[in-house]
Amino acid sequence: MAKILVTGGAGYIGSHTCVELLNAGHEVIVFDNLSNSSEEALRRVQKLTNKSLVFVQGDIRNQSELDLVFQDHKIDAVIHFAGLKAVGESQQIPLTYFDHNITGSIQLIKAMEKASVFTLVFSSSATVYGEHSSSPYKEDFPLSMPNNNYGYTKLVIEQMLEKAAQADVRWSIALLRYFNPVGAHKSGEIGEDPQGTPNNLMPYVTQVAVGRREKLSIFGHDYPTKDGTCERDFIHVVDLAKAHVFAVINRLKQTGCRAWNIGTGMPISVLQIKETFEKVNGVEIPTIFVERRAGDLAAFYADATRAEQELGWKPQYSLEDMLADSWNWQKQNPNGYN
Ligand code: NAD
Ligand code: UD1
Repeated sequence: MAKILVTGGAGYIGSHTCVELLNAGHEVIVFDNLSNSSEEALRRVQKLTNKSLVFVQGDIRNQSELDLVFQDHKIDAVIHFAGLKAVGESQQIPLTYFDHNITGSIQLIKAMEKASVFTLVFSSSATVYGEHSSSPYKEDFPLSMPNNNYGYTKLVIEQMLEKAAQADVRWSIALLRYFNPVGAHKSGEIGEDPQGTPNNLMPYVTQVAVGRREKLSIFGHDYPTKDGTCERDFIHVVDLAKAHVFAVINRLKQTGCRAWNIGTGMPISVLQIKETFEKVNGVEIPTIFVERRAGDLAAFYADATRAEQELGWKPQYSLEDMLADSWNWQKQNPNGYN
């Protein structure tokens, strides 16, 4: 069993990963500045697992705060979620995104080196494939410049980590390229709690369902897809969380830097999300079709075979599970953790 530092562990994906790590018998230290999360999520993680974790409030850009964590705890591996993730906002305040995501990652790597901890799982995104390849995306496809600053930070960090691993064979790094995480823990105790108007589809749908928003706007219905709306690869957040547990185990045994897609490999359309959500949950989602959103690709989904072959990880949850669990969380927590 390992002692794992989870940066950004109070957030959406981080909190679900803490549950899976604790359930698998690992020790967890969460390091988070709570800029986009609540300590309540961590209280619920401990309640759900009946296990305790250590919480340190701090910022990954602060070297001395990080050093202290490594001094106080004998960490075996780090899972690095901390960072900013709103695509639109990253266009307005790029330097803030570079600071939290890129500088923050550099500070973390330096603190790890200093403490001789060389095992890292990094939250990357399928956005690093850019727009030039076509679905299903494989890990060895060439990467290209994402069309937004958030995606750019993920590409830069991936490349930085690869170079660090090339220069020093002690590093063992997993780059997990997430597709579209949705859903929530079955209990409805933890889930996604976006601040302000959601940018992503799923929280928008659940907020319409719960009456916080009037209607869903579907961006474009003239795409060359089965029903004219965009297709994405939605992955249940609990499956995604479990992928981190498999990745940590793999990395503790091997060295080098390796990328894995984390998706189901199944293209699901936006209209299919709305219709299946209505059917599974018995609620209506008033919807209108509007113009395409700039920067959206028609279809974006994974070839997820490498993760299955090399990590032994395979998604277990269906689309119906994702939509039922998203709704269960939103219904029980109409205003998130507030
Ligand atoms: P989230 O915002 O819920 O979680 C991120 C956490 O990091 C938050 O708890 C926040 O308080 C913390 N944080 C932010 N800046 C920090 C800093 N400087 N120091 C310490 N803590 C800081 O986001 P999430 O959806 O859980 O995403 C987790 C990671 O996965 C992010 O790196 C994100 O870019 C990546 N990712 C997310 C998605 C998605 O759709 N949710 C897709 C691909 C990749
Ligand atoms: C977006 C980001 C991507 C980021 C990912 C996770 C863009 C172009 N891409 O991916 O870089 O890694 O989020 O944070 O922003 N949709 C609607 N109505 C809505 C919201 C969304 O129709 O109100 C549609 C979109 O047009 C898209 C699909 O739903 O076709 C999924 O959208 P979203 O949840 O924002 O994810 P991505 O665009 O795939």
